[in-house]
Amino acid sequence: MPYKNSLKIISRMVLAACVGTSMPVLSDKFSQEDLDRWQQEFQSVVERGENLFHGGLQSRNTVSCDQCHPNGANTHPETYPKFQQQLGRVAALRDMINWCIQNPLESDPLGLDDPDMIALEAYITQERRGVELTPGRH
Ligand code: HEC
Repeated sequence: MPYKNSLKIISRMVLAACVGTSMPVLSDKFSQEDLDRWQQEFQSVVERGENLFHGGLQSRNTVSCDQCHPNGANTHPETYPKFQQQLGRVAALRDMINWCIQNPLESDPLGLDDPDMIALEAYITQERRGVELTPGRH
């Protein structure tokens, strides 16, 4: 009997520990209000990127991204990081965005944490949402 009792106590303790660890998971649930707000903020950054891509980005020569890439999707963000000949190394998407800003647009590169850089990335990747990730592909 005492053995059985101690088994009961141990199994209760295990159960309590499991319930205890699931608590933080439960508290990570997001409210619909949060989700809506975050989606809205994301969409506004995508729109900012779309505007920059279609002529909104200041460039010294008034060239814009969409003159060579009609839309963000055909810059193939799903293939990054990958080796890029122009840079001679494995590059991130943002490295190629800056390559185009410095070369075709003849302008100064954006800081990697510049809100304009994040917006361009957001627009370009959003345009390819759902496409399979194939890093390194040419
Ligand atoms: C005068 C034409 C031209 C303009 C304008 C231009 N690009 Fe490019 N872009 C290129 C060329 C050429 C490449 C290299 C293609 C390659 O190596 O696959 C390229 C490559 C890219 C890539 C990588 C594409 C891939 O398939 O790997 C991205 C991303 C990109 N450009 C973004 C931009 C952005 C953002 C702008 C505007 C700031 C811009 N480009 C403006 C010509 C242009």
